[in-house]
Amino acid sequence: MTTAPRPTLRLLPAAAARPDLLSPEESARLAAFRHEARRRGFVLGRTAARTLLAESLGCSPEAVPLAVGADGAPEVQGAPLHVSIAHAAGDLGGAAIASRAVGLDLEAIRQRRPDLWRRMLRPDEYAVLEALGGPTDETQTLLWSLKEAVLKGRRTGLRAGMHSVRLRQLAAGVGEGRDADGGAWRLGYERRGDLWVTWALAE
Ligand SMILES: CC(C)(COP(=O)(O)OP(=O)(O)OC[C@H]1O[C@@H](n2cnc3c(N)ncnc32)[C@H](O)[C@@H]1OP(=O)(O)O)[C@@H](O)C(=O)NCCC(=O)NCCS
Repeated sequence: MTTAPRPTLRLLPAAAARPDLLSPEESARLAAFRHEARRRGFVLGRTAARTLLAESLGCSPEAVPLAVGADGAPEVQGAPLHVSIAHAAGDLGGAAIASRAVGLDLEAIRQRRPDLWRRMLRPDEYAVLEALGGPTDETQTLLWSLKEAVLKGRRTGLRAGMHSVRLRQLAAGVGEGRDADGGAWRLGYERRGDLWVTWALAE
């Protein structure tokens, strides 16, 4: 039996932040952030990405060629690896790496606007919602986060609308997604305290 491919994930609590691993460019970005939570999240995400990539590339975390593309997405220069970074309120940060396009999202479960259902879900996705147990804060946050993970994997972020992603067959922590170009994404999700951790991996 073959195991379905999945990205390698690393999630780190605030205490694991390693600002000493940042590149000069990252340190300059860090110094410009005005909010403490943003600073913590940035360092945690970079710490997770740099340590994961270092293990894969066989170099030190400081030497990982981690850059930022013109679209704002993190990228690994000169290596066939994809990386995605996410953080939640500066308390948890993480990264996912894979040999294909990958998106990671962390989303706190909370009450959102009631009209978000309509803005977020396509008519053909309400069956997915029902299969998850119907509309709750937990299912709304999960579906939002899975779509955001696909949009981060595509590197458009929220510039592309939530309706451009179609979710299918979500159950037991895995699922499928389709993007606006018909691209297929393998999805994963798990609860971590009051957060959803979700990822999307290009098929
Ligand atoms: C990318 C985006 C979805 C991130 O959402 P978020 O809830 O703010 O933050 P997350 O914790 O999920 O992810 C943050 C990480 O996404 C990454 N990121 C930024 N732009 C990205 C893009 N276009 N594609 C993929 N990842 C991106 C960054 O690594 C960032 O972390 P860092 O700045 O600390 O390195 C969102 O910022 C976005 O859509 N940006 C592009 C469009 C835009 O600027 N819109 C304005 C708001 S609608």
